[in-house]
Amino acid sequence: MKIKPLQIGDLTIKMPVILAPMAGYTDMAMRVLCQRYGSGLSMTEVISTQAINYESKRTFDMLRVDKREHPVGAHLYGHDPEAMAMAASTVEKLGCFDLIDINCGCPVRKLVTKGNGVALMKSPKLIGEIVSAVSSAVSLPVTVKTRIGVTADTKNISEVAQAVEEGGGKAIFIHARFASDQHRGKADWDSLAKVKSERSIPVVGNGGIDEASDVLAMFKATAVDGVMIGRAALGNPWFFDEVYSLLNEKIYNRCSLDEWAAVIIEHLMMIIAMKEKAMYYQKKVVSAEESAVASFRGHLSQYLSGMEGGLHIRRSMDKIKSLQDVKIAVEYVVERQRRGNI
Ligand SMILES: Cc1cc2nc3c(=O)[nH]c(=O)nc-3n(C[C@H](O)[C@H](O)[C@H](O)COP(=O)(O)O)c2cc1C
Repeated sequence: MKIKPLQIGDLTIKMPVILAPMAGYTDMAMRVLCQRYGSGLSMTEVISTQAINYESKRTFDMLRVDKREHPVGAHLYGHDPEAMAMAASTVEKLGCFDLIDINCGCPVRKLVTKGNGVALMKSPKLIGEIVSAVSSAVSLPVTVKTRIGVTADTKNISEVAQAVEEGGGKAIFIHARFASDQHRGKADWDSLAKVKSERSIPVVGNGGIDEASDVLAMFKATAVDGVMIGRAALGNPWFFDEVYSLLNEKIYNRCSLDEWAAVIIEHLMMIIAMKEKAMYYQKKVVSAEESAVASFRGHLSQYLSGMEGGLHIRRSMDKIKSLQDVKIAVEYVVERQRRGNI
């Protein structure tokens, strides 16, 4: 299938299949790996504009970017147009981002009770004002990631998409589920097709992609300009390579067990390096390695999912505390896998 590059303002994204922002996962290490295997764009984890304006060290750690991961967007949340514009301007001055994305889809209580995330969908007018204020403050393209509505009774994605476009937004990323459904249930691709037919800015579809063939199906069913991948990429940065092969009618060669094991260790090593450079975390209490392994357990669990012997490791995940423990666990699974394949 011939897929066109995705044009977001002046930014051209050659491969319009892109990594979704996922809090707790899409840090620099995961973004670098997904980009290597073909993700056309990635985003930071969700970052508070208020914390940027307060100059929180922890927040600036989250805004670090590796030169191998471009193009990359800063995925920001907040609700006050002026404060968000100020934070976006600070982010632009860091000189390492290719776009600014505004979170209007996160249903987590901590965000929603303060009027952030998907709470913004209750007021398309405010979303338009935010996009407009942020667009005036930066020269980077401004985009919005949102849902199709807060609940099925209040579905208003068409109004929200209109506000984004009229506010000067350069693309909209739509998770085709209601916030009330969290991440469950069938994604409503008809809504993506409808918004695509109504808007002139690029529409990127998200939700319901479990296999590489689903990407092709979404492009065909909805005519969206790009597809965003969330959970299918967890523990599987090779997913993008598989999609790329399918779209280009090439044979996909699954990575070898050696490559699989090497990437897991490389992933952890990158997180350790990030922790060593971090300005904020309790360095005196926990070593960079220990802290990195603690945040890597979720990734490791995903890498091991469905692998021979993986369940055994996943059941005793809390015992994994060091790089050496991870190496032993990975070797165990590689060994089990090899024996299973004889
Ligand atoms: C662990 C996790 C964290 C997420 N964090 C964010 C986030 O910070 N911002 C956001 O817009 N969406 C977030 N999402 C939603 C994803 O970006 C995506 O919209 C959703 O997973 C649907 O795509 P999928 O079906 O391909 O997984 C998160 C999803 C997961 C599973």
